[in-house]
Amino acid sequence: MATLFIGQNKIFLPEVDSTNSYASILLKNVNAIEGTAVFTHHQTEGKGQRGNSWNAEPAKNITLSVILKPSFLSVNKSFYLSKITALSLYDVLAEVLVHGQFDIKIKWPNDIVVDQKKIAGVLIENAFKESSIASSIIGIGLNVNQHEFGGLNNFATSVFKLTQSNFDLEEVMELVFLHLEKWYLQLRSGRFNEIDKAYLNVLFKLNDTCLFEDKSKQFTAKLIGVSEAGLLLLELETKEVKAFDIKEVKMFL
Ligand code: BTN
Repeated sequence: MATLFIGQNKIFLPEVDSTNSYASILLKNVNAIEGTAVFTHHQTEGKGQRGNSWNAEPAKNITLSVILKPSFLSVNKSFYLSKITALSLYDVLAEVLVHGQFDIKIKWPNDIVVDQKKIAGVLIENAFKESSIASSIIGIGLNVNQHEFGGLNNFATSVFKLTQSNFDLEEVMELVFLHLEKWYLQLRSGRFNEIDKAYLNVLFKLNDTCLFEDKSKQFTAKLIGVSEAGLLLLELETKEVKAFDIKEVKMFL
């Protein structure tokens, strides 16, 4: 099955600093069409969340950015782009990994973890026009055929590490396009409740009490949900409910 628009216009770069940065230049210089996908085998300055870098072994992983133009979505609903991207990656992994054999979860806000180790990360960069989202760069890093993560072996995994099989990167990327388009069309149709339900259904540690870290300390709290704005809702030991954004709190694996 082919997609209608996501990944129909594909740009492969053997090497680039960051596919997100390249996609941003494309948007500015040639107003690239919606669905344009930029991918590379070697990302030399991959960007992660919280100003971190994203390192991926060359030619072993998916490092991809998809340009969307969700002008139908108001700024206060921009977290839905995070939700649908994470749900798409969840669906890709549920399809690629033998169903039921692995514990696949979305870790707030949009990481994917399998058996408590991170397998994919998402960096979304939006441009706003008045109260709508003019364009969105959906940056996806998905660990596919990488065997080793060095010092991160206890925290990171890949499809290869889980299955002992190598996968064709282009085929996995086509699955990403299919599932992303499916969820994006749900979003465009305003199916917010379905998206919320699906996201919460696979949210890592929902209703569990676990360890978090803010600017000054580590603390335990119960993860009770995610607000419409994408804030993490925690019930503290005092029973007070507090909302945290991604810069304010870190969650452990
Ligand atoms: C994170 O978990 O910190 C987010 C990682 C996002 C990495 C991807 S790889 C493709 C795209 N280009 C980038 O520079 N970053 C994203």
